[in-house]
Amino acid sequence: MSRVESPTLRDRITSAEDAAALVRPGDNVGISGFTGAGYPKAVPAALAARMAAAHARGEEFRIGLWTGASTAPDADGVLAEVDGVATRLPYNSDPVLRRSINAGEVDYVDAHLSHSAQQMWFGFYGTLDVAIVEVTAVLPNGLLVPSSSVGNNKTWLDRAEKVVLEVNHWQPRAFEGFHDIYYGTALPPHRRPLPLHEPMQRIGEPYLQVDLDKVVAVVETDAPDRNTPFEPPSETSRAIAEHLLDFLRHEVAAGRMPPGLLPIQSGVGNTANAVLAGLGASEFTGLTAFTEVLQDAMLDLLDDGTLRAASATSFGLSDVGVEHFMANINDYKGRILLRSEEISNHPELVRRLGIISMNGMIEADIYGNVNSTHVLGSAIMNGIGGSGDFARNAFLAFFLTPSTAKNGAISSIVPMVSHVDHTEHDVHVIVTEQGLADLRGLSPKRRAERVIDRCAHPDYRDALWDYFHRALAARPTARHTPHLLEEALSWHQRLLETGHM
Ligand code: COA
Repeated sequence: MSRVESPTLRDRITSAEDAAALVRPGDNVGISGFTGAGYPKAVPAALAARMAAAHARGEEFRIGLWTGASTAPDADGVLAEVDGVATRLPYNSDPVLRRSINAGEVDYVDAHLSHSAQQMWFGFYGTLDVAIVEVTAVLPNGLLVPSSSVGNNKTWLDRAEKVVLEVNHWQPRAFEGFHDIYYGTALPPHRRPLPLHEPMQRIGEPYLQVDLDKVVAVVETDAPDRNTPFEPPSETSRAIAEHLLDFLRHEVAAGRMPPGLLPIQSGVGNTANAVLAGLGASEFTGLTAFTEVLQDAMLDLLDDGTLRAASATSFGLSDVGVEHFMANINDYKGRILLRSEEISNHPELVRRLGIISMNGMIEADIYGNVNSTHVLGSAIMNGIGGSGDFARNAFLAFFLTPSTAKNGAISSIVPMVSHVDHTEHDVHVIVTEQGLADLRGLSPKRRAERVIDRCAHPDYRDALWDYFHRALAARPTARHTPHLLEEALSWHQRLLETGHM
């Protein structure tokens, strides 16, 4: 049975190919999708086929591609494969697109996720020609039941000149009621405080709205989200989790946090997932999450009561996680809320609620600056995502990484990061499997001692001490933050020369 219950939109049901034909070369296209959830499953592939055909005829066909965050091989991937992406924002983890970005073929704008919607409204990105948004169902009155992510869908639907809807029958119809879409945002100088004081407070409506006159095509699909497989927690990630949990216990004992902690935010990746698994095995209970992505481990925490409830903008589940969620969806109703990413990541809310933020990173330097995005200062890995939204405004900002990468060939603790995403002012605690460095209230020199002592791998500790001591002794460069600039850079350069990167 069709889930397109609006008679007006039922008349606009068409094929993915016909819908893709409405996109013109040079258009800016805003698609749904966040961490591989809720992205359009059919129109991007049909569009990629059109692009390939145009390129074969010697015609240029590329678009500006805007999303919620990462999508999947059948969205970002297929479009990158045919060289169809001219510009891309705000976050990507697709390997094909990453290669094109690093080859200089795609202009990638790596924006804070909380900024992307508002900067669209500010007019910073130009016109949005087409929105292609996956939904679960269209109600008789034209309201849209969102799917497994919300991301920037509200803004794309509001701002796009033309809208293509994909109605995905694979998404559970029982999703109705899982979302809270806030329509009260305004532009400066008319902004008012967001009326949210508790992580699970509803401030909006369960539905997305769209001007039906703008909907040019509706495509019905029945295809799964991309699965995000997780590695089982390694010894390294378990050790990281243990250090972090000990620290939280210490903070509770010191009276700086309630026994039920403050709302948690957990970033993407295997390390973050392992930390959540560690929380599940701990004595903590009745917690809340005010976060961006609900990974498998979050479902486990909801199941065993470690988590009372979780607010996010998207799921990011493995196939096992999806199966479990689908089978138990009614148990999660009221305990999971999905919001727009401008709300899930809003700095005002992160500051007000006092979030404990826990994000992965590529490397940190001895003074506490963190690189989350670039390898050797130049090649993008994924993007900053929401890490900056949360870290700068968090009650406590943790950054986590194994102390080495590439089988020990690279130290994740370096004299000076090759790219800065989170400055020393935003980073409270650095954790590796070696230990935890609490940097709160410390000057740069005291931070360096603690980071080297607690977080560096023993294979690199002597070299880091040597660097720090020589930088301290160097005059006149040994000032507030002692550095030997050429040597700090050559630390990274050496990796290029040894062929490890
Ligand atoms: N130098 C070079 N490469 C490094 C590195 C370093 N210091 N540290 C990690 N890497 C590489 C790993 O080798 C791995 O590469 P591979 O896929 O080719 O094997 C890759 O980075 C991912 O590392 P991994 O150890 O598996 O970490 P992860 O899954 O925990 O992800 C980030 C780490 C930084 C990539 C990830 O957390 C991220 O994208 N963060 C930015 C966005 C963010 O924080 N969002 C959360 C907000 S809600």
